[in-house]
Amino acid sequence: MKKVKVFAPGTVANIGCGFDVMGLTLDGVGDVVAVTLYDDKDEFDRHASASGNAFVSTACTVSVKNNSKEKLPETAAKNVVTPAVSAMAEAFLEKSGSKEALYMEIEIIDKIRPGSGIGSSAASSAAAVYALNHLLGHPFSEVKLVDFAMEGERLISGTAHADNVGPAILGGIVFIRGYNPTDLIKLPVPDDFYCTVVHPHITVSTKEARDILPANVSRKDAIRQWGNVGGFVAGLLLDDMELLGRSVEDVIAEPYRKKFIPGYDALKSRLLEAGMLGVNIAGSGPSVFALSKSADMAEKGRKIMASHFSDQGVGFETYLTQIGMTGARIV
Ligand code: HSE
Repeated sequence: MKKVKVFAPGTVANIGCGFDVMGLTLDGVGDVVAVTLYDDKDEFDRHASASGNAFVSTACTVSVKNNSKEKLPETAAKNVVTPAVSAMAEAFLEKSGSKEALYMEIEIIDKIRPGSGIGSSAASSAAAVYALNHLLGHPFSEVKLVDFAMEGERLISGTAHADNVGPAILGGIVFIRGYNPTDLIKLPVPDDFYCTVVHPHITVSTKEARDILPANVSRKDAIRQWGNVGGFVAGLLLDDMELLGRSVEDVIAEPYRKKFIPGYDALKSRLLEAGMLGVNIAGSGPSVFALSKSADMAEKGRKIMASHFSDQGVGFETYLTQIGMTGARIV
């Protein structure tokens, strides 16, 4: 048997304007996952300690052991890591011409709280596929890993979006130009660029936060949104932080999702008045992020966020990081 332990970072999807097409990497917050690949079924049966909850298909048998502090689904089939590694196992058998199913156990060691909006499910899926690719001798490219990890997102939200798993695997700020096939671009990251995040302890499922969005957008809103996406990308390329900041505007999801976050409009106004470059909902929420160009400003944002949710009587935690330049990695 072979075993490897991988860290994959938390991420902020959308970054305001880029619904399903853009995400950034947080530094120092994420999931740690260990994958053990067994030689055969016999070895799996003898050693895998969570084999009772295993998912079995023609390509693989996967058991999931939860050693984190978070509550996770009881069966392997319902854990996001399983469809991700199972998609990889299928592709591996096809690529190698082997008929031998893969037997593995995935241990979740550290976990971002599920439903936080900072890519909790993506971090686990990203770490699991990164680890399995390593154990198999690196047969797949980073883009393929993103494709596999997206299967975890499909399980949890109903849609295979890459704006969390993309940065969780590649690191930095990732732009997804298209999905058929997946076309990822790593964007340049300015030197002094900070992201402050507050995670209020409210549960919002990604599925629910997607289901409330209208299926269609007006031409007026579409023009506004793609203007902002272009503006954000141009801001990064030109190192123009003011342009980048004013492009963190969203008419697609924020108007519908902000009702889940107590006092959202007031919090956003306070943060912008204090000098944050841009403020919006992290992924599908309920976390809120603020971008800034100095550590002092980022700390000012953190204090405003903390005082806001203290006043609201809502428990919370905050994260203050620069953009993480590395995605999933062996630890
Ligand atoms: N783009 C996704 C959404 C991200 O906003 O639903 C989920 O974290």
